[in-house]
Amino acid sequence: MSTPAKSHKPAYKIAPSILSADFARLGEEVKNVIAAGADWIHFDVMDNHYVPNLTFGPMICSALKPHALTASGQPVPIDVHLMVQPVDALAAAFADAGADYISFHPDASGHVHRSVQAIKSKGCKAGLVFNPAASMDVLDWVIEDIDLILIMSVNPGFGGQSFIDSALRKIENARKRIDASGKDIRLEVDGGIKTDNIARVAAAGADAFVAGSAIFGKPDYKAVIDAMRLELPH
Ligand code: DX5
Ligand code: ZN
Repeated sequence: MSTPAKSHKPAYKIAPSILSADFARLGEEVKNVIAAGADWIHFDVMDNHYVPNLTFGPMICSALKPHALTASGQPVPIDVHLMVQPVDALAAAFADAGADYISFHPDASGHVHRSVQAIKSKGCKAGLVFNPAASMDVLDWVIEDIDLILIMSVNPGFGGQSFIDSALRKIENARKRIDASGKDIRLEVDGGIKTDNIARVAAAGADAFVAGSAIFGKPDYKAVIDAMRLELPH
């Protein structure tokens, strides 16, 4: 007998990464990409230590927070992806700066459970991020405590890289773990997502998609976001 279709019916989220936005006009870029249909704003924090690049900190996040609103004034979640080591002090600073989701790489934290609890104690949703070659064994012990799993489909540090295909198997594995947990956990994928591969990524079980260069690299953000949504089951 064939396996029944998954009952999972996600509300897909598209999370443009402002790493590829025009840094001289960040507030305007956030407003424009929200007007174009962004569900979340993905905020890539790099420290020139955990990854070989340096981006922006909590002061930029608090400056952008008032711009992360829909036309009708609804807040658009800020999805902070910490590529920093150590984790806890910056996670707390981003919580204070208005982050909604805060995700970190477990290999960057000395005490993963403690970091998760620290994020949640600030009222934020907590996520764990897995690099292309990272094991997800830590989920055996903390899946009950988290709100989001972020699978890297490139090595972290830079936008505009090519999607690594082994991420598809990892997404399938993470989806099984989430379904087995019975918990409401988002499964997000980050790196090399384009209109021509988003359907495969969704079929593997992802329900949230980070896209930087695919969106900000084109003049018409709405055309790209609409085209991505058309590729998703609807
Ligand atoms: C890479 C970042 C990504 C990056 C994705 O370390 O985590 O969020 O912005 O960029 P694209 O979509 O261009 O691969
Ligand atoms: Zn990211």
